[in-house]
Amino acid sequence: SLMGQYTGMKQNEHRLAEYFNVDKCIIVSGNSDEEKKVLASFGLTVSEALQKLLPAKESVIAVMGGTTMAAVAENMVALDQKVSHNIFVPARGGIGETMGIQANSVSATMAAKTGGTSRPLYVPERVSHETYQSLLQEPFVQEVIGLIDESTCVIHSIGQAMRMAERRGMSQDELVMLKDKGAVSESFGYFFDKEGEVVYKIPRIGLQLKDLEKIPVILAVAGGASKAEAIEAYMKNAPQQTVLITDESAANAILKGV
Ligand code: F6P
Repeated sequence: SLMGQYTGMKQNEHRLAEYFNVDKCIIVSGNSDEEKKVLASFGLTVSEALQKLLPAKESVIAVMGGTTMAAVAENMVALDQKVSHNIFVPARGGIGETMGIQANSVSATMAAKTGGTSRPLYVPERVSHETYQSLLQEPFVQEVIGLIDESTCVIHSIGQAMRMAERRGMSQDELVMLKDKGAVSESFGYFFDKEGEVVYKIPRIGLQLKDLEKIPVILAVAGGASKAEAIEAYMKNAPQQTVLITDESAANAILKGV
């Protein structure tokens, strides 16, 4: 019955939250590997979570890129005044994504959809160390770094390590190194093994993994059975205040092994 399915899903949300030792998990029905509408539904879920969790004043929200985040952004809605004054910023400098799924685009779209504002972080990928260092001194970069420091909410996704490494154009040597180290998961430009331990990090400015500890609201959005292992690995060590927003197929695949 529908009611039975609903209670089953609620139970699974509790089981997942308990397994990962986090405050909350939200499971949406379906499989985002196969259905576009599941990815789209993450947009409403994220909007509702923000409405519920953010205080009634302007917040700085740091966001990551990726196809999940891009779909979330496209499907966000302004639910009330509370979220409409937020400032969206990219959480970290570019980590090698194509334009449409960069954190800069995601933050701009989220602002547009919810009536907030956004600030881009312009730091090109392949510049010399010296150029990079001097760019960091530029006031327009400093301003955004300052905002990232002030952020009280982070929204990110989780990806499969090798897929992400390839998508970002990492070298053959780096791919071999990641395999050797047992990397299965990636988030924020950090790579994690099965136990959720960091095995490699792409050095970039902005939010660092340790900064997450002091961020009161963290939304991790990732679904699809293909990502089950990656989600499980990252979530094992995720900060307790992380709210995992996932789908049925990923949740079932993870809970099968618990
Ligand atoms: O690069 C940002 C990011 O959100 C990572 O945290 C994550 O690993 C990846 O994108 C996920 O990409 P996608 O949503 O395309 O699978």
